[in-house]
Amino acid sequence: MKAAVLYSYGEPLKVEEVDLAPPKAGEVKVKIEATGVCHSDLSARNGTLVFPVPCIPGHEGAGTVVELGEGVSRVKEGDRVIIKWIPSCEKCWHCTHGEPIHCQDVHERHGLMADRTSRLSIGGTPLFHGLDGATFAEEAVFDEKAVVKIPDDVPVDAAALIGCAVGTGVGAVLNTCKVPAGSRVAVIGCGGVGLNVVQGAKIADCEQIIAVDISASKLEAAQKFGATDVVDASSSNASSAIRELTDGVGVDYAFEVIGNLKTQEQSIEMARRGGYAVFVGVAPFGQNIEITPAILTLTGRSIIGSYFGDMVPERDFPKLIDFWREGKLDLEGLISEKGGLEDINGAFEAIEQGSVLRTVINP
Ligand code: APR
Ligand code: ZN
Repeated sequence: MKAAVLYSYGEPLKVEEVDLAPPKAGEVKVKIEATGVCHSDLSARNGTLVFPVPCIPGHEGAGTVVELGEGVSRVKEGDRVIIKWIPSCEKCWHCTHGEPIHCQDVHERHGLMADRTSRLSIGGTPLFHGLDGATFAEEAVFDEKAVVKIPDDVPVDAAALIGCAVGTGVGAVLNTCKVPAGSRVAVIGCGGVGLNVVQGAKIADCEQIIAVDISASKLEAAQKFGATDVVDASSSNASSAIRELTDGVGVDYAFEVIGNLKTQEQSIEMARRGGYAVFVGVAPFGQNIEITPAILTLTGRSIIGSYFGDMVPERDFPKLIDFWREGKLDLEGLISEKGGLEDINGAFEAIEQGSVLRTVINP
């Protein structure tokens, strides 16, 4: 099968013929029909998000089950599924306490299957399952626990996005922060994930949703997705603009959805006294922000990290599909570009230039 391989950080991916071993007991093979290109894949390519190479990146995927390993009972051939890029073990402390996103086993196995081997190789050399998904490929093998069955009415391109951008963004609002109705929020960075924070805030009935970005087209998109106000950070001081828009008070929640140290610092300033700065974006390892701890104490502000929207996929993916059916969640509108595997490197460039909402690849 064909797949896009990352050999070393910073280099373009190479589309090559890769060997995929058949699913072992408890595993399934999935024909990948759609996979979104997420900033996290770009970060993995750049080495910002440290992931072992050589690997096949890609984690925001959906497709159809085409082969079953021994003893598989949760899905059957022909089932349509969304990939869980955090293939939680269901046994560790976190998994048994409602926090599958923090699965200890996934944390330790990084890029390998549960038995610590890979199903991917090229000329006999094993490849890692990049971002625990390896969806930039025509097919992939997963633990049966790592796929969530979906109904037939959800288009596969839209389904793929639920697996990362939508879950991360909407989940940050509804799960991590349980944002109360009537809240005022700022969303700093309105790319594929940020637009879903905007959508989540709309579902939560926020009174004010202030979109902040440096790209005029992203701000325009944010308004379509539910932003009530926009701040162009390329031409104004975003923190002051947020104060002005909130009668000098600041927002209840300031979601940083870029992974930029400067805007993470700003998000703390944007939060009102007693409010929250929520880090959704992943900043590079080894770099630090400066905070004055006394400010947190004296103003009662908090910084919260939100990882994959605290998703419990079996519980939450169906909820997101319901929102979509009710017209509360726009999935199709998030897709601004489409392509095949050979378009992956171009899709990365487009993210770097800030010119896309989301590219969906149909391998
Ligand atoms: N100020 C405001 N907006 C900015 C700035 C800045 N200094 N720098 C970049 N942006 C905007 C870009 O214009 C873009 O719209 O941030 C947005 C980032 O969006 P994407 O590149 O599409 O990234 P996305 O896939 O949404 O991921 C964002 O969330 O899950 C994490 O790893 C992911 O850290 C990444 C973040
Ligand atoms: Zn992602």
